[in-house]
Amino acid sequence: MTSDVVVIGGGVVGLATARALAREGAHVTVVERGSPAREASWAAAGMLSPLGEAGHVGDLRVLAEASLDRWPRFAERIQAEAGLDIGYRATGALRVAYDAAAAAALRSLFEQAGPRAGAELLDAAGARQLEPALTDDVVAGLSIARDHVVDNRALGEALQTAAHAAGVQIRSGAAVDEIIIGHAAGGKRRFTSVRLTNGDSLTGGTAILAAGAWSAALRGLPRTVPVRPVRGQMYAVADGGIARTLVAPGCYLVPRDDGRLLVGATVEDAGFAPGPTAAGLGALFAAAARAVPTLATRPIVEIWAGYRPGSPDDLPILGPDPDVAGFHYATGHYRNGILMTPITAESLAAAITGNPPPVPLDAFSIARFAP
Ligand code: FAD
Ligand code: GLY
Repeated sequence: MTSDVVVIGGGVVGLATARALAREGAHVTVVERGSPAREASWAAAGMLSPLGEAGHVGDLRVLAEASLDRWPRFAERIQAEAGLDIGYRATGALRVAYDAAAAAALRSLFEQAGPRAGAELLDAAGARQLEPALTDDVVAGLSIARDHVVDNRALGEALQTAAHAAGVQIRSGAAVDEIIIGHAAGGKRRFTSVRLTNGDSLTGGTAILAAGAWSAALRGLPRTVPVRPVRGQMYAVADGGIARTLVAPGCYLVPRDDGRLLVGATVEDAGFAPGPTAAGLGALFAAAARAVPTLATRPIVEIWAGYRPGSPDDLPILGPDPDVAGFHYATGHYRNGILMTPITAESLAAAITGNPPPVPLDAFSIARFAP
């Protein structure tokens, strides 16, 4: 079988990129080992937070802001194409501190936030006015208006429908085993095909590696792909009584429209060790019950774990391989792959169709790592 573009991995990154390319007229096949959008893209909390867990700076912040700028239009289009509400909400976030050191960290985040963030420093009373269920331990808060959320599981569903509607072929239950690289005129190496574990081959002009935390495991890659799994454990309670994303020491809390409250997340360099675990969930239970004491007695409705695709510098790996024509990377999105989905899809589609890049991608090239 032949396609213009073969996308390896059907998480939100692969699906959104496939959809964007198909809408430009390319014949695109997504090869997904399991079911689409059931790994990190399903496990995530769906926070769209350019300031991130600890305050992003530099190139990552620029890319994150560019992606959040695209989110309203992206959500509107995906919802229209799929006929599904993906729960994109501009609800804002509240970060809280329990001691002077953490309050100082909030002040420094406020200084980094910039005028667009809609950030406001709060005292304890101001924080509790926004979220009355908060603990009395709070000494300071930082409210951030430009901090949005999406229901990432609904996004995964909607992207499958939108990609399919755009003409993308999705081959579920088919794993890529090996990348086959040949030679083009002038001796330069170029992508030729992928071989699947069932022995089938898919030839194509272009391949995109979007296999998330598993990106390093394929045989025949043009170079070492320094992506590793970073496990994240989460749980959910029914009716959490919180109106906006709340980031507290040791946990974050994300409300969904149906009343569920998601509590996350551990950050563990544990390889592909299965989870959830008592140690991981135990730490989250304690942190969440400290932040919002009523959570200690709320029924738990779900527990889960997923694997973030981590890179050595926490930046994604985007764009063409420096040595092998027709081979592109869209991986390593670590803690921000849901946020970065619109700008990743747009940037990869531009690079592959020869259009000008919407943002400079040099800082995200795989060339920054040793081959
Ligand atoms: P994945 O969704 O993992 O998709 C990769 C796909 O590739 C999988 O479906 C897999 O089956 C497939 N695959 C792998 N190998 C092969 C192969 N050989 N052949 C074919 N298919 C293959 N990000 C945010 O922006 N906001 C958040 O709030 C947030 N919270 C998170 C919370 C947790 C607990 C976790 C784990 C992650 C969170 N993230 C968040 C990060 C985000 O989930 C990821 O960065 C993002 O989902 C990565 O998307 P992906 O499509 O690259 O990877
Ligand atoms: N961005 C949330 C997480 O990675 O846990």
